Amino acid sequence: MLNAIEISPKVWWVGGIDWNERSFHGYTTERGITYNAYLITDEKITLIDTCKAPFADELVQRISQVIDPAKIDVVIANHVEMDHSGSLPVIHRIAPNAQIYASAGAGVNGIKAHFGIDVTPVKSGETLNIGERTLTFVTTPMVHWPDNMVTYSDVDKILFSNDAFGQHFASTKRFDDENDLCEVFKQAKKYYANIVWPYGMQAHKALDTVRTLDLNMIAPSHGCIWRSHIPEILDLYEAWTTYQTEEKAVVVFDSMWHSTESMAREICDAFIAEGISARLMDIKATHISDIMAELCDARYVAVGSPTLNSNMLPTVSSFLTYMRGLSPKNEQRIGLAFGSYGWAPLGPKQVYAELENAKFQLPVPVVAQQWIPSEENLAELQGTVRAMIEAARA
Ligand code: FEO
Repeated sequence: MLNAIEISPKVWWVGGIDWNERSFHGYTTERGITYNAYLITDEKITLIDTCKAPFADELVQRISQVIDPAKIDVVIANHVEMDHSGSLPVIHRIAPNAQIYASAGAGVNGIKAHFGIDVTPVKSGETLNIGERTLTFVTTPMVHWPDNMVTYSDVDKILFSNDAFGQHFASTKRFDDENDLCEVFKQAKKYYANIVWPYGMQAHKALDTVRTLDLNMIAPSHGCIWRSHIPEILDLYEAWTTYQTEEKAVVVFDSMWHSTESMAREICDAFIAEGISARLMDIKATHISDIMAELCDARYVAVGSPTLNSNMLPTVSSFLTYMRGLSPKNEQRIGLAFGSYGWAPLGPKQVYAELENAKFQLPVPVVAQQWIPSEENLAELQGTVRAMIEAARA
């Protein structure tokens, strides 16, 4: 087992590594997950967050490498969600006199509702002295549940940021600069797109607070600790939380007899011909959580479905439902609905309605193609895409 790791004097990573978890609420976690917990061996022995319940043994073993877990004086529960609080009952049994802190209201109520444990409320801006260090709590509601808060340690200049700035990325190396940085940023983006995106406004507010702190490290509860690339991840969060998009198109589709696929290919080529970077994403081949990571910064989003039993394909419907939950407001983005049909153009029309509900700008009407698109039909799509782009640039 990987030993506890001292990330800063008297501050230890004691979390769990879930190498083989491949799904978090349906979001594919191809690189596994970590549940980071941190132990501070100050005058008051302090544990920040715990782990998902099956990792309680790992957590306790790692704490035991540093101190007797029964000596824990303080537990900070930054977040109620069970990937961070699931082992709290075990810690509570081992160290029954430890004082547990959670955010006033949602945090306290959530811990009580999940585990029947009474905890001490803290408000945003409150501090707790644990000896040499003073911890400051800042609530970050909806990043990613109403109860969330982050904890800042003044001596270490470490922000224990819980879900914010996380990545689903299992590794034996704890720091950004010890890992494949491209992969770390890729997973940070996928994490943002699939977990934090709906709460961009709240995350942006939290980011403003984070920028006021003197930081040596941002230690999230998932993935690597940021120590060498803090400005980069803050700038990325700045872009993501302000919904910035690039001149980039994502063409998402499913197809039955290749008619919608032919249209998708033509649309993708049309974007490329106009000098816009484009991704062609067949829902059968790419998981919707990976599509969301591409969508996150795409200005143009084209979605295609044929018609099956008077509906769009269930795969496309599933993607659109997932997308609308994560990204309900897309006024800054340009959408296009397209697809084929045999006798009633219902599939593409439903796609259009879904994009409209998700508040996309839709400067051109739905493109519905009966049966198989001819060369001429496909060529017309070039004009449709040009019209979209012109509308976006107008
Ligand atoms: Fe990693 Fe909202 O839990």
